[in-house]
Amino acid sequence: MKLTYFGHACFQVVANGKTILFDPFIQPNPIAAGKVKISDVQPDAILISHGHADHLADAVEIAKASDALVVANWEIIQWLESKGISNTHPMNHGGARSFPFGRVKMTNAIHSSSFFDGTYAGNPGGFIVETSDGSFYYSGDTALTMDMQLIGQAHNLRFAVLPVGDNFTMGPADALKAAEFVAVEDVVGVHFNTFPPIQIDCESAETLFANAGKKLHLLDIKQSVEF
Ligand code: NI
Ligand code: MN
Repeated sequence: MKLTYFGHACFQVVANGKTILFDPFIQPNPIAAGKVKISDVQPDAILISHGHADHLADAVEIAKASDALVVANWEIIQWLESKGISNTHPMNHGGARSFPFGRVKMTNAIHSSSFFDGTYAGNPGGFIVETSDGSFYYSGDTALTMDMQLIGQAHNLRFAVLPVGDNFTMGPADALKAAEFVAVEDVVGVHFNTFPPIQIDCESAETLFANAGKKLHLLDIKQSVEF
């Protein structure tokens, strides 16, 4: 599996020959500006964790351009359909379903979820994705939760994608605990350094993980890592 980072919590994973894009937020991202073009992204599927603009801003444009299948909670799918997106599939917490690119289970997240105008966007979530090339977990924006232990017990994950920016989500120390709960050695850190409240000391975060025998990957924009 090859993961490529597009900044903030936007990344894609190519697995089993399919490209899965998560939480599209590229054009309004100050640190991705000029580095990533919408046309760089040609997903087969788009998975959206919750309704906040920093996870959804480019979803309509990319979905229209790619005709990718969009998977998200019921409320986000209703909203996307109202914007003319028709290749969609709604899910909710605890449910799993097999798609051409792999099997997705929607997980709980401790966060909030609303659209740009403040209207309700369903509950925030994350995803376990199982493919023939291996499985991984993207938590979405969340606090550390004991529920993550259930994920580690039930799934053999190759890596996890976890927020590390603190303030709105887990910081590095809680993300390390989450990595222990979901039983992974490799974590791709997201949701950091985009805005002043989520600035972190990358070197000390990487050291924290290394001292626990784990690897925190903090990627540059458009940098890739293979798992
Ligand atoms: Ni959020
Ligand atoms: Mn966010």
